[in-house]
Amino acid sequence: MASKSKILFIGGTGYIGKFTVEASVKAGHPTFVLVRESTISGPSKSQLLDHFKNLGVNLVIGDVLNHESLVKAIKQVDVVISTVGHTLLADQVKIIAAIKEAGNVKRFLPSEFGNDVDRVEGAVEPTKSTYDVKAKIRRAVEAEGIPYTYVESYCFDGYFLPNLLQPEATAPPRDKVVILGDGNPKERLVKPSKRSMFQRSSS
Ligand SMILES: NC(=O)c1ccc[n+]([C@@H]2O[C@H](COP(=O)([O-])OP(=O)(O)OC[C@H]3O[C@@H](n4cnc5c(N)ncnc54)[C@H](OP(=O)(O)O)[C@@H]3O)[C@@H](O)[C@H]2O)c1
Repeated sequence: MASKSKILFIGGTGYIGKFTVEASVKAGHPTFVLVRESTISGPSKSQLLDHFKNLGVNLVIGDVLNHESLVKAIKQVDVVISTVGHTLLADQVKIIAAIKEAGNVKRFLPSEFGNDVDRVEGAVEPTKSTYDVKAKIRRAVEAEGIPYTYVESYCFDGYFLPNLLQPEATAPPRDKVVILGDGNPKERLVKPSKRSMFQRSSS
């Protein structure tokens, strides 16, 4: 039987990352998570990191903004999955550069997990800029000839409904709701499941 791919998650302690890391381990993949030194030594993610360690996840100290640490981590695996959040989407060019230098990666999944950014129409800000950055990262991956998979999962109801798309709100807003655009753009909200996700892959 073919051995399972070794997978490195970058952003594995985030909202999407924590689910995908757990799924990777449970599917039998040797699973690595790049974690910043400050996160390992700080209290905010200690419970999650303990949970990862109990599952058998290998924690690798590193930072997207530190090229050497990225290359060193990437050299240990076959597949790289980025689940970095909005502030680091454009910085994924640094992951692409590190993958090129490491030279051993069989597949890269950039941080997507939303709409198909090449086909979406009528997006309004601030979402439009996010789609533009994700599309630029797709083009950079393709230009470098790195085998890729883009995971399209639409918008999760559990993520967007509780705060009615108000970025800073942690509970349903009661006084005021900002409606994006002219109020007419439509969004598709899904309950996350394998059936609601699509993959677009190179060979
Ligand atoms: N379809 C949907 O409904 C939906 C919902 C949410 C997100 N998404 C998409 O999913 C993707 C992930 O978003 P998210 O909200 O899950 O992200 P997030 O929660 O903001 O997680 C960010 C991750 O990046 C890590 N990170 C930050 N700076 C770093 C650095 N310099 N070096 C290494 N790691 C660093 C964070 O680590 P620390 O723990 O150390 O801070 C954390 O693990 C995005 O593409 C987003 O658009 C889709």
